[in-house]
Amino acid sequence: MYTVPKLDDYSPQALDRAVADLFAALESESRALQGEADWKEFRDRWMARKNGVLTQVNDTWLKAAPGPAKREVGQRVNQLKARAESAIEEARNKIHTSAAGSKLASERLDISLPGIQRRTGVKHPVLRAMDEIVSIFKAMGYSIGEGPEVETDYYNFESLNFPPNHPARDTQDTLFIAGQEQKPARDRLLMRTHTSPVQIRVMEQQPPPVRIIIPGKVHRNDPLDATHSPVFHQVEGLAVDNNITFCDLKGTLDRAMKALFGSSVKTRFYPSFFPFTEPSADMQVSCIFCGGKGCRKCKNSGWIELLGCGMVDPNVFDFVKQNGYDSSKISGFAFGMGIERISILKYGVEEIQLFYEGDVRFLEQFA
Ligand code: PHE
Repeated sequence: MYTVPKLDDYSPQALDRAVADLFAALESESRALQGEADWKEFRDRWMARKNGVLTQVNDTWLKAAPGPAKREVGQRVNQLKARAESAIEEARNKIHTSAAGSKLASERLDISLPGIQRRTGVKHPVLRAMDEIVSIFKAMGYSIGEGPEVETDYYNFESLNFPPNHPARDTQDTLFIAGQEQKPARDRLLMRTHTSPVQIRVMEQQPPPVRIIIPGKVHRNDPLDATHSPVFHQVEGLAVDNNITFCDLKGTLDRAMKALFGSSVKTRFYPSFFPFTEPSADMQVSCIFCGGKGCRKCKNSGWIELLGCGMVDPNVFDFVKQNGYDSSKISGFAFGMGIERISILKYGVEEIQLFYEGDVRFLEQFA
């Protein structure tokens, strides 16, 4: 930091040198100023009456100067005062304009900037597969039906020909609503384990013919693993009319699978059991990964099991007999498929949990 030196040499050259040193200090201090507070300190350091640099110059240079040198010294001191004053003034202006400048910059509207892009999101891969299946059946003349997720024992089991205590109920690990013990068994509430109860609900609402496709969420008391989730989705189908045969079922599902996975896909039907269909079948599709040759995904069988189906059991029609469902006159088929499973196959998803975690890195792959 600059301090005012004592002078012993009062020659004009020596005075010029002393003045030049002082100006250099003034300049460099003024350049280093950062803001208003710095500037005030700078001003006081130079201008303060008591002990400011200029006062010191007055005392150490002018007052101490021998008589003959006073004129020379006096001229320089006056010059110096004027220059210091203007340097201080200038420094102040500079600080103010740069402060104003940065304020303006923050308020400036740059119309060349790209706007804030709001990402619109995409349909979830489960919903996407579900909607695709529904629209395939819509194109075949099916209407869409829905039913409640909290269902009664009657619709979920009894009317679907699961008698009370029948072991087939064990195949669907059920989540029951608490505190229902007072009610008659058929009225007790549970989380529906499949979309099949909507079959009965639809048939209660409308007489035959029926062609309905029913998407929805279902619940089972299954632990979460790579392929199981306690909450998942199904699409159910039901067709009832005169002379509906197993051939119609096969043709309809084969057509739907070709629409869903591509025209080279084949289907086959394996005997199975469901209380509400007779006969019952599991439908398999030729492996969509290897085309049927056998690979890791199809466990080398060339086939992948995809859904349950069958001809509506006459006992089921009996529950809606009064609405025109006389099993001696009409027949029908039904099927139900798990959507997550289809979505996993269609989009190559590794684990079922990915559907529910809401991780955008997973979801944005479907954009
Ligand atoms: N509801 C059965 C299930 O969830 C599937 C199914 C539906 C089977 C319709 C036959 C007919 O496993």
